[in-house]
Amino acid sequence: MSLKRKILELQKKREKVLQGGGEKAIEKQVAMGKMTARERIITLLDENSFHEYDLFVEHETRDFDMDKKVLHGDGVIIGTGTIYGAPICIYAQDFTVAGGSLGLMHARKITKIMDHAMKMRVPIIGINDSGGARIQEGVNSLAGYGEIFYRNTTASGVIPQISVILGPCAGGAVYSPALTDFVFVVDKISKMFITGPEVIKTVLGEEISMEDLGGARVHSEITGNAHFFSESEIECFDKIKELITYIPWNNGQKARPFEPKDPKEEFKIDEIVPGNSKEPYDVRDVIRCITDGSEFFEIQELWAKNIVIGFGRINGETVGFVCNQPLVLAGVLDVDSSDKAARFIRYCDAFNIPIVTLVDLPGYLPGVDQEHAGVIRHGAKVLYAYSEATIPKITVILRKAYGGGYIAMNSRHLNADFVFAWPGAEIAVMGPEGAANIIFRKEIMSAKDPEKMRKQKVKEYKQKFANPYVAAAKGYVDSVIEPRETRKLLLHAIEVSKNKVDRKPIKKHGIPPF
Ligand code: HXC
Repeated sequence: MSLKRKILELQKKREKVLQGGGEKAIEKQVAMGKMTARERIITLLDENSFHEYDLFVEHETRDFDMDKKVLHGDGVIIGTGTIYGAPICIYAQDFTVAGGSLGLMHARKITKIMDHAMKMRVPIIGINDSGGARIQEGVNSLAGYGEIFYRNTTASGVIPQISVILGPCAGGAVYSPALTDFVFVVDKISKMFITGPEVIKTVLGEEISMEDLGGARVHSEITGNAHFFSESEIECFDKIKELITYIPWNNGQKARPFEPKDPKEEFKIDEIVPGNSKEPYDVRDVIRCITDGSEFFEIQELWAKNIVIGFGRINGETVGFVCNQPLVLAGVLDVDSSDKAARFIRYCDAFNIPIVTLVDLPGYLPGVDQEHAGVIRHGAKVLYAYSEATIPKITVILRKAYGGGYIAMNSRHLNADFVFAWPGAEIAVMGPEGAANIIFRKEIMSAKDPEKMRKQKVKEYKQKFANPYVAAAKGYVDSVIEPRETRKLLLHAIEVSKNKVDRKPIKKHGIPPF
């Protein structure tokens, strides 16, 4: 056969495989408002940058008449490409081929591209749209999942791992996304659950829709399994692209710097935080006074809203923000917000991203629910994450910093590099009201006018302790600063921390309060 004919043969073979599961299955996919796997990859990556591998991989199963079935590409597409020039390894499950179910060869394709990402030290993106373990392949599919989970864990903290849920992701399959750094979901399209509605009905006799059980909103607002919620696949891909601009390709590098920009003038940092410490405000307004172009890329925006986390840039460099949110529950730390903060701190630490912590909280949330939900164990994660982090760690106390909350939010005592406080900061064991009621209880009770005495004692306590100067006098706070000085000082702190060295004792690993 001449080379020309061989080329024609190759083209025909390619064409066949590119049809995926065929016209009908594609029509069904489109009717569900979903793109095909290949369209997804092409839309997400830079134009003409995608190169596909293992196009001709086929399954080898004989049971259940599987030998009569051709599954193009074995239901998954793998390859490499770029996003804004950054090299990316990617896979996308093709639901049109046997429901994107995962058999042995399907899993081998995924692990191959994961291994490639690790060798090349570049981010890996996995697009999940699958009926789970391919039932006909039995234990081979389970083996496949196990090998993916093993690689997810090995790659954790070495290369960024991004999961996109664009269809069902059921059973044990959900654990690969759960082991990765960022999970993207799309309204009405994403479904994640361990046991589906059918099983729940059989075992528990409860009826629930797939959407209410594990839809995009459930995982964005209730479970915290998802980090980014979008209304459409296009919006989701735009967010992934934006995320890629903020993070480095691997743990040996820093995120690519951008051209520095001033914050927008409409954000006035002196006018955001109310003097009355009981009045709320949106801490994101403070962030926008600090970041280049007032841009802030928020993560887990809809879950545990009492803490705000995300990326911004200062002087062109990526910075992670961890900030109490006085708008929600006065910004307390509780079970969920502790988990949210701790995981993000560890992400930033693993990927050389300095952390700026903005503090305004009355402490850990009291109550039986929280105690029984494990606020001790979960709250400890914040202490652990800040204490073990060796990247530059800078704190600005905006207003309240009480009790355990003060210590936990990257205090000097957890080895913060710089601690600044605004003049309205109140750093004390607890709020003035609570403190006065406890330490002056006898005087208040025995006074002729207990209420007057209580107010007087609260005032006394406030004057003595609810300010930044006691902590500043001990060197726990490095500088008491005007709000308008904040960006300049952060910029300087990040600049002088560039060569920071903080070596911890050699150990296999610590035992964080998981
Ligand atoms: C083999 C599967 C499959 C699977 C779907 N298909 N899931 N084939 N193994 N797990 C096939 C269907 O037979 C069908 O093939 C095609 O994919 C499309 O599926 P439909 O059911 O027609 O699609 P839809 O109505 O949209 O329903 C999607 C679905 C449903 C909700 C995902 O297919 C479903 O419930 N699948 C099973 C989910 C599941 O229980 N998986 C196992 C989880 S346990 P044809 O040829 O008819 O087009 C698990 C263990 C992993 O994953 C443990 C790891 C540790």
